[in-house]
Amino acid sequence: MRGAHPRVVLGLHRSRHERRLLTGALNAGVTSLDTAFNYFGFRSHQVLAQIAGDLLPKFAVSTKVGYFPGPKGTTHSLNPVRLLGAVEQTARDLGREPELVFLHNPEQSLLAAGPPGRDMLTTACAAMTEAVKKGLCGAWGVATWDPRPLVDLIGTTVPRPAVLMVRAGLLVGGRALDAADALTATWGTDDGGVWGMSPFGGSARDPLWTAFDPRVFLREGSGLSRVQAAFRLAYALPSVDAVAVGTDEPAHLGELVGALAAEVDESAVDGYRCLLRERMRGQSD
Ligand SMILES: NC(=O)c1ccc[n+]([C@@H]2O[C@H](COP(=O)([O-])OP(=O)(O)OC[C@H]3O[C@@H](n4cnc5c(N)ncnc54)[C@H](OP(=O)(O)O)[C@@H]3O)[C@@H](O)[C@H]2O)c1
Repeated sequence: MRGAHPRVVLGLHRSRHERRLLTGALNAGVTSLDTAFNYFGFRSHQVLAQIAGDLLPKFAVSTKVGYFPGPKGTTHSLNPVRLLGAVEQTARDLGREPELVFLHNPEQSLLAAGPPGRDMLTTACAAMTEAVKKGLCGAWGVATWDPRPLVDLIGTTVPRPAVLMVRAGLLVGGRALDAADALTATWGTDDGGVWGMSPFGGSARDPLWTAFDPRVFLREGSGLSRVQAAFRLAYALPSVDAVAVGTDEPAHLGELVGALAAEVDESAVDGYRCLLRERMRGQSD
């Protein structure tokens, strides 16, 4: 087994939930696992406990609450009672308390709420704080696919999460990158407190990854594949401490871990961010 790589998180959003994936992750030194209440048809926690209950203590497990099964399909809610209930059920289904529980895409409910959104978010964050106090999880966080609606809401009144998780990598647009930076600055998250997600936007087979060479953003990236370079770059777009990545192929995790040693060319990244801002200024929206 390789040394631990806390900066790589195995995300189970699209994964097959097979034991070999978890043993492969441990062998690659990946000891953080990210799932959600709604992943795998709302069965992720139960299935993990069934197929790998003995392995789970070897991982730092993070999960998310916010999506619930409804009569017409999945619904989103920030109702504090439902959130707390979901965290309680999570600990039961996993067979142990997770290290971290994220509020899952709170913007989904906030966009529909309009101006009362800040109170709604404050109450939801208070429910997560309560879950930690009750010992149902080690810490709480916010995972947001689109951080833009949160920026104007959080001010100084919304409780600060231990971890903020945002989209990362080359597919993230300029406005989302700026919003992620703004949230990080306002919340002032601790060291290790900002995670990236979805570095390939869900698929490394997108033609983009053959058309564009992300190695131009690395100082000495010539030994890496384009996929490895895109993964390494995700730690800098925006600046994050860890990245949650999905795979069904344990060997792929090893490749990604191998990319961590590469150095990002910060001036190239800064130049790219400037270009994105110039482009945004030229757009009305
Ligand atoms: N709102 C939220 O909270 C939210 C939303 C999205 C994602 N996330 C988190 O982020 C995690 C990852 O996101 P994601 O699943 O959307 O997508 P992703 O990590 O951007 O992409 C996953 C894809 O990348 C491929 N891949 C990974 N390593 C590779 C390698 N070395 N070589 C070739 N292909 C490789 C995988 O294919 P193979 O199976 O062939 O390796 C898989 O199809 C999720 O599981 C979840 O934890 C959170």
